[in-house]
Amino acid sequence: MDSSSELKRVMSLVDALALFTIFVIPLPAHASPAEAQALLKWKSSLGNHSVSSLSSWTPSPRKATGSNLTVSPCAWYGISCNQAGSVIRINLIGANDEGTLDEFPFSSLSHLMYMDLSVNSVFGHILPQIDLLSNLTYLNLSINRFLGKIPTEISSLTKLEVLHLFFNGLNGSIPLEIGQLHLLSEVVLYLNQLHGSIPSSLGNLSKLARLYVYNNSLSGSIPPEMGYMINLKVLHMDTNFLTGLIPSTLGN
Ligand SMILES: *[C@@H]1O[C@H](CO)[C@@H](O)[C@H](O)[C@H]1NC(C)=O
Ligand SMILES: *[C@@H]1O[C@H](CO)[C@@H](O)[C@H](O)[C@H]1NC(C)=O
Ligand SMILES: *[C@@H]1O[C@H](CO)[C@@H](O)[C@H](O)[C@H]1NC(C)=O
Ligand SMILES: *[C@@H]1O[C@H](CO)[C@@H](O)[C@H](O)[C@H]1NC(C)=O
Ligand SMILES: *[C@@H]1O[C@H](CO)[C@@H](O)[C@H](O)[C@H]1NC(C)=O
Ligand SMILES: *[C@@H]1O[C@H](CO)[C@@H](O)[C@H](O)[C@H]1NC(C)=O
Repeated sequence: MDSSSELKRVMSLVDALALFTIFVIPLPAHASPAEAQALLKWKSSLGNHSVSSLSSWTPSPRKATGSNLTVSPCAWYGISCNQAGSVIRINLIGANDEGTLDEFPFSSLSHLMYMDLSVNSVFGHILPQIDLLSNLTYLNLSINRFLGKIPTEISSLTKLEVLHLFFNGLNGSIPLEIGQLHLLSEVVLYLNQLHGSIPSSLGNLSKLARLYVYNNSLSGSIPPEMGYMINLKVLHMDTNFLTGLIPSTLGN
């Protein structure tokens, strides 16, 4: 075989592979329509004020390159997608959203990494289904009207680095399971009505740099295990009902 026919053989193999790729690899944009429908369902559950801030959230389709018309949420206000067209960020800070998470599409947003709904009027519970957002690294629901407990299911968010839930109406105790979220670097829970004691499991959080739990109704003593949070730089625990001594381990 001479080298030119060898080259031809290689080239046709390359062509065949290229064709194979075109037909077998799904087009991007595929993930979006279901996510778009799910987000629209949540939008329709929100109060009228929200509707103006979310006016770009519409079911009108866009022409995706080389494919049919699809509804994509990727250009909507506050939404960012990855290259495959899946929603990875929701940033609706101060968007005047009023409503609950009851219709929030937890089960459709498994790629979501970043969620900020702070400074809105979201009320009701932080639902246990939050555990479905297992790719979250950042969760900020601060300055809303959330009530009830921080669900223990939050312990499934094992990639979580930032948890900000300050200035809500949360009660119940800080879940013990928070100690399983080893990547947490910021936990900000001030201005709620949290009670019970500070869980000793916080000692597991060796990356935690900022812990704010002031202005709650926490009681009991400060667990000595807190001294194991070797990266802790800022700690605010005032305005609670804590008793006992400051453990010497905090010297760590
Ligand atoms: C939203 O607006 C419609 C029509 O203006 C009104 O009938 C409805 O009560 C409003 N809903 C809320 C939750 O304010
Ligand atoms: C997390 O996101 C990655 C990348 O987008 C994805 O491959 C993975 O399936 C997601 N995890 C879950 C549990 O869906
Ligand atoms: C969470 O949201 C509040 C209110 O928008 C903001 O002040 C705070 O800085 C946010 N947290 C982070 C880590 O950005
Ligand atoms: C916690 O808040 C919920 C919702 O507001 C309320 O029904 C419940 O009684 C509160 N629990 C305690 C122990 O305060
Ligand atoms: C976290 O800390 C608690 C209490 O200090 C301990 O019993 C538990 O085994 C730790 N869990 C993990 C996952 O490290
Ligand atoms: C913090 O709690 C104290 C005592 O309950 C209260 O007087 C104060 O107003 C609270 N701070 C804020 C900013 O609400």
